[in-house]
Amino acid sequence: MIGVFDSGFGGLTILKAFRKDLPDYDYLYLGDNARTPYGNKSPEVIYAYTRQAVEFLFDRGCALIILACNTASTEALRKIQQEYLPVHHPDRRVLGVVIPLAEAGVEATRTGRIGVIGTRATIESKVYEQELLKLAEGIEVRGQACPLLVPLVEEGWIGRPETNMILKKYLHRLKRKKIDTLILGCTHYPFLYKDINRIMGKNCRILNGPEIVSDKLRDYLARHPEIETRVTRHGTVSFSTTDDPERFRVYGEKFLHRKIPEVQRVIFDSGDQG
Ligand code: DGL
Repeated sequence: MIGVFDSGFGGLTILKAFRKDLPDYDYLYLGDNARTPYGNKSPEVIYAYTRQAVEFLFDRGCALIILACNTASTEALRKIQQEYLPVHHPDRRVLGVVIPLAEAGVEATRTGRIGVIGTRATIESKVYEQELLKLAEGIEVRGQACPLLVPLVEEGWIGRPETNMILKKYLHRLKRKKIDTLILGCTHYPFLYKDINRIMGKNCRILNGPEIVSDKLRDYLARHPEIETRVTRHGTVSFSTTDDPERFRVYGEKFLHRKIPEVQRVIFDSGDQG
């Protein structure tokens, strides 16, 4: 199985792309809905929560986990890869979404001016800036935290005048800096793609996470047969959440645009900050 982890519903956008592009594999989705949002939490807490999620997905038999959540990829991935995996699961892999998006950003830009929008934790960590500069020296990166967008998307306020007004305010600075590429560095922002695209105008390319991450996963599996052969292939998808399964089912169907038959409830020990 391939585990797909997000702090809540947003990672369903990534799962949707995986199911479309790589339908043969089995997927297990985990949303930490009881503790979402991660975007305003400290790095220590985000790491502790993400590690619990990774342990759960490994216990269920995932050979590979994708952290669909930008905030978890930003604050937890490196430590999981460098400290946790070598000791506990040297034969399994955890991948994130930041490097695929940064690579796509460098490929897309013509002027070298790239913007990134994300949660406060993602933007304050400057992880996109670091990864982009590793890939191409001299790139100019402008980050903008957009903490109001996740709740607006979760409330379904897409396309509303209030949401567009807030979007314009957030994007104004990036527009003034004449970026030619914008990375949507948060699971929820693809839902606002059309409005962001319109506000940024035709001189700016908007990079949509799910398609990019799915392409990179295909490449990764082709290049890593030692992992690929351990991922089961029956075309199934299962769902789990740390909050109310019925609520997950109802909201999840909206995010995924398909029926979710069953959702498993997972309970984590909230004291482990470890
Ligand atoms: N999934 C998070 C991300 O992509 C957004 C929601 C949250 O703050 O937990 O950054």
